[in-house]
Amino acid sequence: MLLRNVELEKAACMFVNWYGQLKKNTIKSFVIPIPDDVLAYLRQDLVILPKECSTLHSSEDTKTKHFNSYDDQFSDDDEDEELPEFPEFSKKLADAIEKLGGSAFVKGDWHCPKDAQWITLGQSLCVKDITDVYQLLKASSFCKEDFAERSPANSSGYHIILKKWRDIHPGSEFRCFVKNKSLVAISPRHWPSYHEHIAVERSDIVSDIVSLYKEKIKDSFPLKDYVFDVYRPTKDHVVVLDFYLYGKNHSDSLAFDYDQLDAEAATATIEEEDDPEFRYLPEDCGIQPNRRNNYGFPQDVIDMFQVTTEGPSTSSSSTNGANAENDSSNLINRLMEEWQVQSKEDDDDDVDNQQQ
Ligand SMILES: Nc1ncnc2c1ncn2[C@@H]1O[C@H](COP(=O)(O)OP(=O)(O)OP(=O)(O)O)[C@@H](O)[C@H]1O
Ligand SMILES: [Mg+2]
Repeated sequence: MLLRNVELEKAACMFVNWYGQLKKNTIKSFVIPIPDDVLAYLRQDLVILPKECSTLHSSEDTKTKHFNSYDDQFSDDDEDEELPEFPEFSKKLADAIEKLGGSAFVKGDWHCPKDAQWITLGQSLCVKDITDVYQLLKASSFCKEDFAERSPANSSGYHIILKKWRDIHPGSEFRCFVKNKSLVAISPRHWPSYHEHIAVERSDIVSDIVSLYKEKIKDSFPLKDYVFDVYRPTKDHVVVLDFYLYGKNHSDSLAFDYDQLDAEAATATIEEEDDPEFRYLPEDCGIQPNRRNNYGFPQDVIDMFQVTTEGPSTSSSSTNGANAENDSSNLINRLMEEWQVQSKEDDDDDVDNQQQ
């Protein structure tokens, strides 16, 4: 059995390494290399915003107002001098946001700050100025993972990616599984939520994705096994969003199971090549939990619950996406249990009080 070189696979999935090839099939973006001083700042845990953010807020008629805990609580003019400053880099960020029409989606080489959405006033990943960018990147454990020291994967350096903001309908996003260079399966990205149009358009969805895969991805993407995400705003139009590693502990298999996908790929005939299985919910079976909504708990809350309910755990410090998803789901369950116990105790107290 061939051993996987995960770091090299990660390098292939880095945005900067596929954007050039797929520029016409993805969202307009800017790739901004991170200089060493900014990288050191991004790796630090403390959320202190660079000087340019305060300058921006005091000198300009700002479009958004931010909660800057540092500025609000501790800063005075003298301390301003101690703030880090990256004027050139911040200008590159600001220029890119402006060129993208004033609203952008930010990510590191692999991950977006989906676990830090709570820090912005709009609770959104849409960034409108440099303060939004720094706040999200500094508060995100997923992005911190992207900035960690890693030799082969980051041989082309570290980058901030700014993409033009698009309002993406959740029912139009799909995850595609490629095994041995064959597109074996497609799942709705927000599995298991129900979207009526998916059943109606199922064969067009599959044929649009297969066309894009065969024409633009299959022969140019360097890996044999991988996962890619797309969105399909309209018929005949599929946009590539992201690439990541195939397999458990790397990418959520959503409507499928990796053992099943591996088995299917191993037994597929030549006629079945690039004839993916498409799984979707055929009918609305009520509200389904969406695991992606589970992100966004500050680490302090997570730590508190791990200490109070289980004792210290090492998994909370894991920045691996799959583990983080499990951690969040477990946390939600535990919070729900705690709240239920708490509200039952409150109800019991009320009854006791009434009886006295
Ligand atoms: N340009 C954009 N504008 C608005 N939303 C976007 C944009 N690009 C991506 N998104 C949304 O953000 C989600 C996550 O994006 P992306 O896959 O790039 O980040 P990620 O960190 O790899 O997340 P995941 O682990 O969920 O794949 C997408 O599924 C999509 O809903
Ligand atoms: Mg992704």
